Amino acid sequence: MILITGGTGYIGAHVAVELLNNGDQVLILDNLCNSSRTTLGLIASVAGRTPGFVQADVRHRRTLNSLFREYPIEAVVHCAGLKAVGESVRDPLRYYATNVGGSVTLCQAMAEAGVFRLVFSSSATVYGDCPQMPIAETCPTGQPTNPYGQSKLMAEHVMRSTAASDPRWSVGLLRYFNPIGAHRSGKLGERPSSTPNNLLPYLLQVAARERAVLKVFGNDYPTPDGTGVRDYVHVADLADGHVRALEFLRGETGVHVWNFGTGRGYSVLEVVQAFERASGVRVPLSFEARREGDIARCWADPAKAARQIGWKARHGLEQMLEDAWRWQCCSRERGEPLALATLPATGR
Ligand code: NAD
Ligand code: WQD
Repeated sequence: MILITGGTGYIGAHVAVELLNNGDQVLILDNLCNSSRTTLGLIASVAGRTPGFVQADVRHRRTLNSLFREYPIEAVVHCAGLKAVGESVRDPLRYYATNVGGSVTLCQAMAEAGVFRLVFSSSATVYGDCPQMPIAETCPTGQPTNPYGQSKLMAEHVMRSTAASDPRWSVGLLRYFNPIGAHRSGKLGERPSSTPNNLLPYLLQVAARERAVLKVFGNDYPTPDGTGVRDYVHVADLADGHVRALEFLRGETGVHVWNFGTGRGYSVLEVVQAFERASGVRVPLSFEARREGDIARCWADPAKAARQIGWKARHGLEQMLEDAWRWQCCSRERGEPLALATLPATGR
């Protein structure tokens, strides 16, 4: 059985589906601070099996201890965390308490229970403003520009030191680049609880006419069209990578780091154009000043993940955007789709 912390969240829910499809038993722990119990039924409806669920905080040691006692947990995928960059600047202690404190408590409970296989949702943010593109895992970690990024780097340090202290640990640090997209069924995707900070959820709301205009933060970067360049990766590809990482770690010890990106960067304007092609919907834009803390460019060298765990992103940008738009259109909580008719039913 695999325990997924944060398993009702955007990435965790896709990992749950992939593990269930792989034949694994799945137990989810989530305090639902940024997700909903209804996701469990949606996971079951796409995977055909229901994961176990416990509503609890990952920092609650007694709950973790009892889960490890009660269930035959062999490994943990640790997705639980807070991820809003701006919020982390306003409330850093909450971010350190959850992202660092949660990782410490989880590692303590795992060690006590004799469970030493751990996969962690890390982030390309740990590289900071890397001068070298593409970014390989050998690039030194940098200075993340906000408490969220710092907390992810600190959580990595927690796991590295813990693994260094006991050779039974087997840890995978998965550095996601920019996860986007949604499950092809249209049932699982990212559900921002307030005004989105990230490009894709904001763009989707503009396309759905829930917001008037997409603000493009900066068109004077040293990039081909002046807008920021990122490596967008489909959440379904990430989920597949978690299964491969867990399998690899079964036969290994120590700490292993993998970049999860496509290896290709797209500018904000390229994303908008690809979205318009994929959806047939026009996205009104306005050019604004650069957003504080943003970097110009960031894309992965994903060769190590291909070599070691056989992982490669399979979805191209337009596919990611089509799946994201289907999710936006299908999302019941946001009311009935405005433009469902613009998308063909998925044949995949
Ligand atoms: P999400 O908010 O959708 O999922 C996180 C889940 O963790 C939520 O369901 C939330 O309720 C839960 N959670 C938060 N604090 C908790 C706590 N104290 N105890 C138990 N559950 C708690 O976010 P996501 O996009 O799925 O991100 C998952 C992980 O991936 C996070 O750790 C995030 O830092 C990391 N990550 C995300 C991105 C991204 O752009 N989405 C990029 C890189 C890394
Ligand atoms: C992408 C590009 C923006 C919104 C953040 C975190 C990072 C990681 C992923 C978790 C940039 C531009 C954005 C908008 C815009 N999260 N943009 N208008 O900043 O690469 O990464 O999310 O680990 O840690 O920092 O992603 O989607 O916010 O921005 O023009 O309304 O889109 O300037 O160039 P980012 P993003």
